Amino acid sequence: MITATDIATIVQKRGRSQEHLMLILRDVERLSGNNQLDAPSLKMVAQVMNIPESSVAGFLDFYSMFSREPRGRYMVRVCKSGPCHVRGARRTLDMVEQVLGVKVGQSTADGAFHLEETECLGVCSAAPAMMVNETLYGDLTEKRLREIFDAYRSAAGPARVQAAETAGAACMIADTGQTRWLTALVGAIDPDSLDSCRAAGGYTALEKTIREYAPADVTGVIKSSNLRGRGGAGFPTGLKWSFVTKGPMQKYVICNADEGEPGTFKDRVLMEENPHLVIEGMAICGYAIDASIGYIYVRGEYRRSIERLQQAIEQARAAGLLGQKLFGSDFSFDLLIKEGGGSYVCGEESSLMNSMEGKRGYPRFRPPFPAGSGFMNQPSNVNNVETYASVPLIIEHGPERYKSVGTSTCPGTKLYCLSGAVNRTGLIELPMGTTLRHIIDEYGKGIRSGRTLKFAQVGGSAGGILGPDMLDLPLDIDAPIKAGVTLGSGAVLVCDESTCPVDFLLNVLAFFEHESCGQCVPCRVGTAQIHHLAQKFARRRAAPADLDIMVQKAQLMKNSLCALGQSPIMPITSMLRLFRDDFLRHCEPDHACPECDRTIERYYQESA
Ligand code: FES
Repeated sequence: MITATDIATIVQKRGRSQEHLMLILRDVERLSGNNQLDAPSLKMVAQVMNIPESSVAGFLDFYSMFSREPRGRYMVRVCKSGPCHVRGARRTLDMVEQVLGVKVGQSTADGAFHLEETECLGVCSAAPAMMVNETLYGDLTEKRLREIFDAYRSAAGPARVQAAETAGAACMIADTGQTRWLTALVGAIDPDSLDSCRAAGGYTALEKTIREYAPADVTGVIKSSNLRGRGGAGFPTGLKWSFVTKGPMQKYVICNADEGEPGTFKDRVLMEENPHLVIEGMAICGYAIDASIGYIYVRGEYRRSIERLQQAIEQARAAGLLGQKLFGSDFSFDLLIKEGGGSYVCGEESSLMNSMEGKRGYPRFRPPFPAGSGFMNQPSNVNNVETYASVPLIIEHGPERYKSVGTSTCPGTKLYCLSGAVNRTGLIELPMGTTLRHIIDEYGKGIRSGRTLKFAQVGGSAGGILGPDMLDLPLDIDAPIKAGVTLGSGAVLVCDESTCPVDFLLNVLAFFEHESCGQCVPCRVGTAQIHHLAQKFARRRAAPADLDIMVQKAQLMKNSLCALGQSPIMPITSMLRLFRDDFLRHCEPDHACPECDRTIERYYQESA
């Protein structure tokens, strides 16, 4: 039983301010031994932190990784998002239920395991995947599942079972022919060693920045490189830095490492395999915008990334690469890690900052924008991991070299996350603007089992559907938009002829309903309605007119407060452009569709 002394010790260690609530609740949850945050514990947390119990409760209920109910010593979360779905997630969940002898939402009789479904765990190249407490497992077969659960059962304590298939380096396709700039050191250095990183040139760009440039010049270099944000929107990075309010106030550098877009795992690989590159990029940004503190907000599912980053930060601090007066200058900069709690919407920058402050991750109204009023209402610059990791390379080699690769408006490289029905999945780094054909043929080694491409979803669940007619579209930031789709996060999910478009879209729309934070009406109501309509098609109970209704509702959702509610229109319209006839066939009550049947049976039994 957790005591008041336990809670006081945790709060003392983490800090009493509400911004530390996530880590405090996580510590309490670990201490519970059954992955539970019970009412007495929550009451004590509120008392010790001197914040209303309702604030603690409201926070807890927002984040899917927490629960008030006892859940067993080991939380088993089986992924159901797109890449896992097309690689057999339904069958995996069946197998897990069989092996554990419980259904989703239940715990085993011995209190060891509790089973839940979850959305993307960021190990999509090793789909189908699951997470047991904080360890990620992929390439799941029945044999592998039995080995994993037997090992957990047999261990005297919570021993970690090897999960090498999900390690960052294992997710990288090693073929030559890539332009390995950001990933040059993935697999080549020891990510646990600062010496290894420094021997390969780590932190030379930071030193060069501090010794050779004035802050405004650094922003100028990034501007002239035309680096564009890699989080999805593609906004010019140097311009963004220049917007940060100037003056003596505290400013923050924030790294968005809440990589929740299904099919995306590039930032995880960078954080796990070269954490110092991300740290160095953030420190250079800090120098440019006159910020002395930075935060990396890492999704809670990425335990290995969190540990690697924490270790790297401590190493850099000990070596004088973070902290006071770096390289003998007046510039001081330090970094801290914030953790997410299982919420896709926290990948939106204003939601992310609310979450960092220990609040529900609701999007904020804008303006004000983060550059003027961000974390703690102070000027803040938010970029994602891939963007910050690009910065040292630009400083080191110059903007002209950076612009020598990629397209004229979108220079540099792009990390593409390849998953789905290809012979080989994984992360690749190629010039921005590489075509889908090249990615599938050269690195995916073609479609699995000798089948043909039906479509690919590029950019995650929020991305558009590309048919075989778009195989030669340059996948940069601008060309896909002109073609009615988007590059987004760089996820490339390939689907072959066995994939039913209706079943696939149902999976996408289920994701959006699950992840809607519910703050604004168009998104809260709209995601539920379009998901319901997709179910009607999957059950063969829809009328042709429902197609237009689904599009109209998704159009209305563009009035949502943030990108989540504005996103479903793209997968819907781009899917219907290609496969309208498939949806019309699903209006016929006797149309046979084993894929839809399996999904309905697996995930929708209660609502049948
Ligand atoms: Fe399952 Fe990404 S890990 S979809």
